[in-house]
Amino acid sequence: MAHFKHLFEPLTVGNTTLHNRILSTAHQTNHVHDGIPTSGMLAYHLARARGGAGLIILEAAAVHISGMLTTHTIAGYDEKVIPAYATIARTLHEHGTAVFTQLFHGGREVVSSDYRHAALAPSAEPSLRFGVMPRPMSQSEIHDIIRGFAHSARIAQEAGLDGVEVCCSHGYLPAQFWSPHVNHRTDEYGGPFENRMRFIVEVLESIWSEVGEDFTVGIRMSSNEMTMDGATIKDAVEIVDYLVDRVRLDFINVTAGESSTYAGSTHIVPPSPIKHAYVAADGFKIRMAGAVPVFVGSRIVDPAEAEKIVSTGQADAVAMTRALIVDPQMPNKAHRGELQTIDACIGCLQACIGHYHRNLPIGCVQNPVAGQEEALQPLFERDRPKKRVVIVGAGPAGLQAAVTADALGHEVILLEEGNALGGLLRTMRCAPMRRELAESMLDNYTRKLAQSQVDVRLGQRATRESVRLLEPDAIVCAVGSSPYMPRVPGMGDSRVVQVGSVFGNAVEDMGERVVIMDYVGDWQAIEAAIHLAERRRKVTLVCSKLFVGEEVHQFLRNEYMKRLYELSVEIRMHYDFGGIVEDKLKIRHVFAQSVEDISEWDQVVLSMGRVPNTDLYEELQPVAENIYQIGDCLAPRTLEEATYEGMMTSLQL
Ligand SMILES: Cc1cc2nc3c(=O)[nH]c(=O)nc-3n(C[C@H](O)[C@H](O)[C@H](O)COP(=O)(O)O)c2cc1C
Ligand code: SF4
Repeated sequence: MAHFKHLFEPLTVGNTTLHNRILSTAHQTNHVHDGIPTSGMLAYHLARARGGAGLIILEAAAVHISGMLTTHTIAGYDEKVIPAYATIARTLHEHGTAVFTQLFHGGREVVSSDYRHAALAPSAEPSLRFGVMPRPMSQSEIHDIIRGFAHSARIAQEAGLDGVEVCCSHGYLPAQFWSPHVNHRTDEYGGPFENRMRFIVEVLESIWSEVGEDFTVGIRMSSNEMTMDGATIKDAVEIVDYLVDRVRLDFINVTAGESSTYAGSTHIVPPSPIKHAYVAADGFKIRMAGAVPVFVGSRIVDPAEAEKIVSTGQADAVAMTRALIVDPQMPNKAHRGELQTIDACIGCLQACIGHYHRNLPIGCVQNPVAGQEEALQPLFERDRPKKRVVIVGAGPAGLQAAVTADALGHEVILLEEGNALGGLLRTMRCAPMRRELAESMLDNYTRKLAQSQVDVRLGQRATRESVRLLEPDAIVCAVGSSPYMPRVPGMGDSRVVQVGSVFGNAVEDMGERVVIMDYVGDWQAIEAAIHLAERRRKVTLVCSKLFVGEEVHQFLRNEYMKRLYELSVEIRMHYDFGGIVEDKLKIRHVFAQSVEDISEWDQVVLSMGRVPNTDLYEELQPVAENIYQIGDCLAPRTLEEATYEGMMTSLQL
């Protein structure tokens, strides 16, 4: 029986018919070389087409050399992209998936470039996030870029793509023109609303005159830029109302956020715990204003949520971009009703947009194959002898190793000393803003294990003898790490605790004035500060890094900073910890090399990193020739390394 009848009903958009209403929106994969999509990008999108996506919108393609967002942006204005586009289109069409590309000019928003070329914008109004002061565009530059949009659309059409989306979202160039806060021009492209709309109207008109009627052209826009001077849904409705009266628009792809500010940028790729499907209600307002097909996205992780959005008329199709990164087969599984087998996006941002901002190819914490399909898929398909594998430790690394080894046909025994699965995820689920992420990840693994043949043995401490009795061909140690204790005076003081205890019952006994010492810049110290401040403690966060949350993805950090300010947590940057001397906390300035005292305190919480647990690995050495360490017991890092090493180790067994 087919499930989700609204979601799997075909939809006609302009000249394109989608076989269902699930789409992957534009997102940079960094699989671009010299402006041209690589075979890695093809393999990446092919996996999602095979999985049943109705429409894939390829990542931002610059319409002009001045519009490159990074050095890995597609040169959409250059005919040399045609063969790569054509291969992608042909291959994805074989699976029934329609393919658009996104026509892009960032204006003042430039993430990275070979050298700092001049950024262009309607007026000299800076991007606060990137620290870019743009040069006001001359009229001939405006006309040149409008021609670039039209030319790039023709290139996409010639390559056999089904359509294009003009990126007006997130405060990029078209939105910079229509914004009264960014556009201060006094010519016909600035001033009154009609003038500020002239740029996008001329872009769309020139595209249509270049591609003819037989193509599909729409826009992406933010219904709410989520920042102080940004457009709101009221502005968005006015814009749509105006546009559809003047120029053919085949669809409107609705999202949220704005690139030039911290608060707005969060919504480009919203992290957990931002609410699921929070933009959907705006989709309905835009749909009513435009009377053209509307796509809506952002934190829609579940086909049931998507079905509801379509069935209640909030949108005609649903963008589920990260849901498809995590589980490319999600549409097929949803259609067959195999909901228990779908892995959900946990909103961690770590390897999708996190990789993008680090100039790495796209990845996924929950699906370490994502972005590496070309290299890794053949390894999964290789013949291999069946082995008995003992995995010790059921944290993320051990869980990923277990489900991968099981999927490859090995006999897997998973030993866990504690009475529950999850390892550090169990701590994380008690942290105020990591709860959803941890629970969702645990749920994904619990369901996968339940459907596997893995022999899970909880409450079993692994020793040399107990593991020898299992006669393993290979052993994988995934036994995690322990908190680091600095060698400074006063560490025996009962008022000094490790950060993990903040997320347990110990918090009730903690004193009023809490000082948190953070050497790591990750989620733990910040979550502890929030957790304690929410419980009316006066919290001081002392951090030795350059800035708070240095190791956390910037969009999540924005949410953290907001909460820290809301809760009046005192932040003291650039200090390490000199210990407790005569009841005073010694903090040492890492630049000035001066020492200061904190005399008013009741509790010290240490978040200073973790030390790998290596003892078991040493103990088990004589038991099997093939013995591996993965995740934190190899070296304490993040969830991403844990799951990646879990998968890669099982692949090489
Ligand atoms: C790695 C990455 C790169 C992205 N690049 C773009 C882009 O080029 N253009 C764009 O409009 N949105 C971009 N986005 C935003 C996505 O299209 C989408 O709106 C976002 O991931 C939220 O939707 P989701 O919750 O379904 O993933 C990007 C997202 C990710 C994860
Ligand atoms: S890395 Fe995290 S946020 Fe990104 S797609 Fe994977 S699970 Fe989702």
